[in-house]
Amino acid sequence: MEILDIIKRRRTIDPDDFNGKAVAEEVIQAMLEAANWAPTHGFTEPWRFVVYGPENVQDFGDFHGGLYHTLTPETQFLQKKYEKIKYRAKNCSHVIVCINKRGDKSNIPELEEIAATSAAIQNMLLIATAHQVGTFWSTGGMCYHPEFKAGLGFGEQDQVLGIIYIGQYDMATPEGKRNSDWNKKVIRK
Ligand SMILES: Cc1cc2nc3c(=O)[nH]c(=O)nc-3n(C[C@H](O)[C@H](O)[C@H](O)COP(=O)(O)O)c2cc1C
Repeated sequence: MEILDIIKRRRTIDPDDFNGKAVAEEVIQAMLEAANWAPTHGFTEPWRFVVYGPENVQDFGDFHGGLYHTLTPETQFLQKKYEKIKYRAKNCSHVIVCINKRGDKSNIPELEEIAATSAAIQNMLLIATAHQVGTFWSTGGMCYHPEFKAGLGFGEQDQVLGIIYIGQYDMATPEGKRNSDWNKKVIRK
């Protein structure tokens, strides 16, 4: 398949539409390998991935739901939201939490390391698409809370860039949409 076709075919697939079947380990490894080939200023290679697989994917839901439960003041706590966070991965094969790891001595601007890690994430999603595997890039729930990254073993200076829910799905891949065409966002000089 042409690379542009894969890029255009990549869709955000709601984890509720996953069918619970496991994605082959080779596909997951290819996703992670592709991530490691993202461009990187100064070879800081700041991307890190915490991977949950079919055998422990609910551990992630328990961790994430548990954080919402303990960190949300009682007056703001919503049982429905709690259950959504806790069981978001119930039909998933894998969950990959993507972190931008800022070394203490990095002389590369933070913006550039976020850019590099974002490129790594996109590489990962494209490999999934090429294998007809669904992905959902989420920044919801507690993912920006300091306790979230701490609970995964990361430090104050590191940033969570997303939770990728991964799974197989049976429906036809939805049509994509963009508000305007690429040439409306290009200024030619
Ligand atoms: C940094 C980032 C964070 C995102 N976070 C969420 C999210 O929390 N919830 C969600 O429904 N979609 C999230 N998305 C996915 C977008 O909703 C999705 O990319 C957009 O609707 C376009 O659809 P497409 O990916 O199928 O082209 C996120 C995407 C990016 C790039």
